Amino acid sequence: MRIFLPVRDVHAREILDSRGNPTVEAEVTVANSVTGELVCGRASVPSGASTGRFEAVELRDGEVRYFGLGVRRAVSHVNTKLKAALLGKDASCQRALDECILECDGTQNKENLGANACLSVSMAAARAAADALHLPLYQYLGGIHTAALPMPMMNILNGGKHADNTVDLQEFMIAPVRAESFAEGLRICAEVYHNLKGICREKGLSTGVGDEGGFAPDLPDAESVLSLLVEAVRKSGYEPGTDIRIAIDAAASELYDEKLGAYLFPGESRMKGHQVTRSTEDMISYYEWLAEQFPIFSLEDGLDEDDWDGWQRLTQRLGKKLQLVGDDLFVTNPKRLSAGIELHAANAILVKVNQIGTLTEAFAAVRLAKENGYQTVISHRSGETEDPFIADIAVAVNAGQIKTGAPCRMERVAKYNRLLRIEEELYGRTARDTV
Ligand code: PGA
Ligand code: ZN
Repeated sequence: MRIFLPVRDVHAREILDSRGNPTVEAEVTVANSVTGELVCGRASVPSGASTGRFEAVELRDGEVRYFGLGVRRAVSHVNTKLKAALLGKDASCQRALDECILECDGTQNKENLGANACLSVSMAAARAAADALHLPLYQYLGGIHTAALPMPMMNILNGGKHADNTVDLQEFMIAPVRAESFAEGLRICAEVYHNLKGICREKGLSTGVGDEGGFAPDLPDAESVLSLLVEAVRKSGYEPGTDIRIAIDAAASELYDEKLGAYLFPGESRMKGHQVTRSTEDMISYYEWLAEQFPIFSLEDGLDEDDWDGWQRLTQRLGKKLQLVGDDLFVTNPKRLSAGIELHAANAILVKVNQIGTLTEAFAAVRLAKENGYQTVISHRSGETEDPFIADIAVAVNAGQIKTGAPCRMERVAKYNRLLRIEEELYGRTARDTV
């Protein structure tokens, strides 16, 4: 007998994210049409700092409380309009449910209800449905597609908008490209992270961490950061380029100065005592040079979110050699991704569910990417919650890669720990676990 899961209740509240800013948490209660059992699913929404200009609207109250960042309006939209629209609807059909959410909002960018309101309900409904059907979330979302655990791209050194140091490029990540399992890869990365801390300490550099848990010392330029990373990899007994490769998220939209038509490097300028700016061509050559000197395999947001022309040139020059990931460029939006595919801009997409606001749309972006040979990386935001939902998404869609910060700060570690549990569920306990 086909089981239906009619929505019986929808409720949201304002909670805090990892930066102490308000965000939306929702609960959706569904009834199992066969057993009558009531099941409640809960999910919460993350929030970015280096937010792309084309992301769906994150609705903030703009009042005095929480410096304008309250989300009481978004919460109220869940508790009134979305609740009214969804009561009685079947939560086991995510697509129809999300269409209902889209219709209720009625705008292109979710400015009416807020992408934070929409996504909280979209995710909570999926979790309620999975629980009501007694399926793990990744299996509910992915069905028989659930096979591969993602490789972590672990951000161990933070800069840009995620820290107050002089490092201008936002994220420096390591990837355990030869690890035999997720657990093994996680261990390798965590060991490098600890060795990086030791090296920073020895050199008198700060070991305080940024928003995503990576260290945030003052360093003069990207070369110095990359040298430190290579040193930490070697100290851990691994071969840079063979065992571990490096990924950078430049978050270049944050560096781009429209008036100058160039990229400004404020930290590097301060450390070197003269103004450092780079044109689009300079940026491409700079990345090319960095990738020759260091074992870099992936570059995210190397150029501004509006510079399609630059992205085309970047992809022509480096697309065969590097994974070029569009984050602010694509904002998990199938329409922007289609434009990128058409123009041969980038060759991979970063997937952040709150950039678009419903699971259905995020999954459509993943599908489109895969159909066109673009790699997919599931990603957290710099403002996170304890909800490990993205770990299940990464497995459900066979994303291949996940970006969820350092092995530090529990909102990051929660995702890694969830993946450890999933790996055990899918592949059983390994000998390694029992020695
Ligand atoms: P954000 O950063 O969450 O602050 O946007 C993450 C990223 O740029 O990938
Ligand atoms: Zn990014």
